[in-house]
Amino acid sequence: MKTLIAYSTKYGCTEKCAKEISQGLKGDVATVNLKTNKQPDISEFDMIVLGGSIYAGRIRKELQNFVSANLEALLEKNVALFVCGMQEGEESIKELNNAFPESLRKKAIMKEFFGGEFIFSKMKFLDKAIAKKVSGMETDISHLDKEKIRSFIDMLNKI
Ligand SMILES: Cc1cc2nc3c(=O)[nH]c(=O)nc-3n(C[C@H](O)[C@H](O)[C@H](O)COP(=O)(O)O)c2cc1C
Repeated sequence: MKTLIAYSTKYGCTEKCAKEISQGLKGDVATVNLKTNKQPDISEFDMIVLGGSIYAGRIRKELQNFVSANLEALLEKNVALFVCGMQEGEESIKELNNAFPESLRKKAIMKEFFGGEFIFSKMKFLDKAIAKKVSGMETDISHLDKEKIRSFIDMLNKI
């Protein structure tokens, strides 16, 4: 099984998840940051894992653009989807559903909301101000659900 993990990240949380998945998956695994390589060739891969973070309710643009440009080809592959964000409960499910087209979500072997992180020291001024206001916190917060990431990897290893 040849797998490509294509992700879009702003401050590194999604990248951290992508790396964890790449280390846990069996077989041949490549990772690509869609910021540096906007149109990776997916033809040689059997499985594509797509991950991105949510800002103001939306998945990052680079991932959205990649999915739009490759939707037909993606629908021919095994696909798995994940998002990172700080929302919880119903809102997180809504965000996950809004992040990808319905056809891709229906096709996906796995789709999961992993949670997210606020690492204030990495943030640009405006993002930091918003994150501090929304969270009411001054110190870094990690709400990444390691168990969900583990189950996601385990499920993909069964394919
Ligand atoms: C300005 C700003 C807006 C955000 N908006 C949302 C949001 O609408 N929904 C959400 O679930 N998380 C939101 N987040 C949280 C990020 O998705 C979270 O920090 C995530 O871990 C970032 O991942 P990244 O470092 O891979 O970009 C926001 C964060 C910032 C800084």
